[in-house]
Amino acid sequence: MSEKKIITVFGATGAQGGGLAHAILSDANSEFAVRAVTRDPNSDKAKELARLGAEVVTADIDDKESMQKALAGAYGAYFVTFFWAHFSAEKETAEAKNMAAAAKAAGIKHAIWSTLEDVRTFVPLDNDSMPTLQGKYKVPHFDGKGEADHFFAEAGIPVTYLMASFYWDNMIYFGMGPKKGADGNFYLTLPMADKKMAGIAAEDIGKCAYGIFKKGNEFIGKTVGIAGDQLTGDEMAGVLSKSLGQTVVYNMVTPAQYRAFGFPGADDLGNMFQFYAEFEQHCNKTRDLKLSKELNPGLLSFEAWLNKYGPSIPLD
Ligand SMILES: NC(=O)c1ccc[n+]([C@@H]2O[C@H](COP(=O)([O-])OP(=O)(O)OC[C@H]3O[C@@H](n4cnc5c(N)ncnc54)[C@H](OP(=O)(O)O)[C@@H]3O)[C@@H](O)[C@H]2O)c1
Repeated sequence: MSEKKIITVFGATGAQGGGLAHAILSDANSEFAVRAVTRDPNSDKAKELARLGAEVVTADIDDKESMQKALAGAYGAYFVTFFWAHFSAEKETAEAKNMAAAAKAAGIKHAIWSTLEDVRTFVPLDNDSMPTLQGKYKVPHFDGKGEADHFFAEAGIPVTYLMASFYWDNMIYFGMGPKKGADGNFYLTLPMADKKMAGIAAEDIGKCAYGIFKKGNEFIGKTVGIAGDQLTGDEMAGVLSKSLGQTVVYNMVTPAQYRAFGFPGADDLGNMFQFYAEFEQHCNKTRDLKLSKELNPGLLSFEAWLNKYGPSIPLD
């Protein structure tokens, strides 16, 4: 174990980091060891990671010193920030800046930074096709991450920029699944027009990240976008209907209608879907299905994800 190269995994009890931690821990021949970062080593998830062989350490990404300790002696690090814990793009950028500084100080040999596009490079702030949010962002939970990329580059960190896709798990945990209409059918509401959206099983993000670490230097300095499928709303509804045994209809709304739903983050997500739809080619080209499969041969398609997790989608 001590011969193995340590990878410090932020968010190890969550979706992205958890997928990576479990991917490494379930590979008995892995050249890597997991140092799992949590704020609460007594949580069930943290204890489970320890049981599986991870070194569990306590750190908070808002506490530079704890982050530094978590990285000491590590070969690699998986850096992810948690936008939905605070909804602030500015805070997210500052957290990523601290991550880059901590990686530099620790001499990390391979960092994976979980980023997304800075949508303002596609839709400038003075473009009124989508509202400007938080004073200076188009899609705050994308822009704050994309803006932070340069901190890693400028610090000279050997970094891979990892871009995930829409988690299908949002249908289970964030109320984005089909909802029953007055006619008894189920409706999948998305503002994606007739465009294809890249989606992924949350568990596959960490598995793809493991694939990147296993490739050594191959992806250092590169951006790797990942997805398990690229489907239109109609196609998603079709797969849902088949898998759930219920008629699911794609309820195509406009981004403006979606923003007006008014739940926390609806404006940010409305802008995000608008970006996915209007820059369909860019988003799907960047999130490469073939490469994702090469990195993670067990990659789930939407249908395979539904076969595994469909019963967990709340249908009401
Ligand atoms: N949902 C999507 O479709 C989607 C798609 C692409 C990208 N993303 C991005 O994914 C990111 C979230 O990643 P995720 O889904 O893996 O998160 P997650 O499942 O919510 O997990 C977050 C984990 O991180 C830890 N954590 C939270 N705040 C922390 C802090 N201040 N310091 C240290 N650890 C902290 C928590 O662990 P402890 O409680 O154990 O400390 C928690 O288990 C967001 O920034 C989001 O924008 C989401």
